[in-house]
Amino acid sequence: MTPPSRQPARRRTAGLRREAVLATVPVAVAALLATAGPAAAGTTGAAGAGDPYFPLSGNGGYHVGHYDLTLRYDTTSRQLDGKAVLTARASHRLTRFDLDLNGLKVTSVTVDRGAAAFRRTGQELVVTPRHALRAGREFRVAVAYHGTPKPVTDPDGSADGWIPTDDGAFVAGEPQGAMTWFPANGHPKDKSTYDFTITVPKGRTAVANGVLLGRHTAHGRTTFRWRETQPMAAYLATATVGDFKVERYTTPDGVQVYNAVDPREARAAAPVLKKLPSVLAWESKLFGPYPFRAAGAIVDHAPDVGYALETQTRPVYDSAPDTGTLVHESAHQWFGDSVSLTAWKDIWLNEGFATYAEWLYAEQHGGDSAQMTFDALYARPAGDELWAYPAGDPGNGGNIFGTPVYARGAMTLHELRRAVGDRDFFRILRAWATGHRGGHGTTAEFVRLAERQSGKRLDGLFHTWLYTKGKPDKV
Ligand code: ARG
Ligand code: ZN
Repeated sequence: MTPPSRQPARRRTAGLRREAVLATVPVAVAALLATAGPAAAGTTGAAGAGDPYFPLSGNGGYHVGHYDLTLRYDTTSRQLDGKAVLTARASHRLTRFDLDLNGLKVTSVTVDRGAAAFRRTGQELVVTPRHALRAGREFRVAVAYHGTPKPVTDPDGSADGWIPTDDGAFVAGEPQGAMTWFPANGHPKDKSTYDFTITVPKGRTAVANGVLLGRHTAHGRTTFRWRETQPMAAYLATATVGDFKVERYTTPDGVQVYNAVDPREARAAAPVLKKLPSVLAWESKLFGPYPFRAAGAIVDHAPDVGYALETQTRPVYDSAPDTGTLVHESAHQWFGDSVSLTAWKDIWLNEGFATYAEWLYAEQHGGDSAQMTFDALYARPAGDELWAYPAGDPGNGGNIFGTPVYARGAMTLHELRRAVGDRDFFRILRAWATGHRGGHGTTAEFVRLAERQSGKRLDGLFHTWLYTKGKPDKV
């Protein structure tokens, strides 16, 4: 296999855009943070979750337990009508708080049924409830909105969020696109359960995360009800709409599979999707039990997107995936979805792990050994983009999907495996996935776990492979 394989389309549009975004964002951010600034410790919710790569993603002052999203999408006019009801808990006294919402028109906001004042500033929807919310208090925010959703352009030049297609929309929100289609606490620090009620023209299918509760058709429209009962980061939510052929079955382990495939991709997708149950079973053997009750794939025909995303329970592919991509997005269900990031800087915990899963799959299915894949990468000259920045410290949001994160991230795991041996290495992977299941993990926690499980000092290894600039010397 040719490493590194999972390279999103970023290169297609990177360049020009990137400088423009990087140049203007810090100014806007500084202004916003100045207004929210010190008050964050007081009674207003901060405008961001404190992530330096995406300072306005997420918000401070509350945690969202549940999102109830009711959406109607007209695939011809591309108009979205939405109502979002968030059940949240204030982490300190709040006289006002923010949600992330980019574009779209908000027509009303209520907090606990009382009308609330709101204003828009950039991607922040600032909500002022009639009465302050006391610390620890559970509250419900309902936001009614509509408009033509537009994706955001990420610092790497790729489009992210609600991306219209010729027959619906490809919906993927990593790292910041959730706010293009629903008001969100859009940082992976905050995980929530979700209900989706999505109405689309009859003949189109709306696919979200989790389990399909039901569908019904009336007056030329079909409504799909989906439920994700396991905590999910906002960027992993989807509501992809299109003309899809649907396949459903339950695996021997009781996982409900729902595949939705654009007929134009069906022939190429079929032989790969057939492998999904065996890929999940193989990964379960390596990483511990599959973390969710539902699984599947959304195979869209979205030639402008250029990447797939590990949307929770049901990855979304912009075209028929190859086996490596299926293995990669499936591995993310453990690494990235079940075990979430607390900061985008740690993205190698997602991408390095999912990439290493591809190497392991090849190794155990008649392909190159992981060592061969490692060696081929290591042979790249010092000036190669692989060594452009350290995997554990990509430096900014424009670098989080770059080759160092994917490939050098996987190389880091391979070096760990060589240092501790197969038995301990696979114990570490399983302990990571099971110990942090449904929650979060940081790089520091992973390093500590690896040292505990192996009884070895590993700080040097991680320092070299994750944090040292340039091509590491061979150990
Ligand atoms: N996490 C995805 C994957 O590796 C890539 C998402 C790329 N997103 C983007 N906006 N460039 O499978
Ligand atoms: Zn990935």
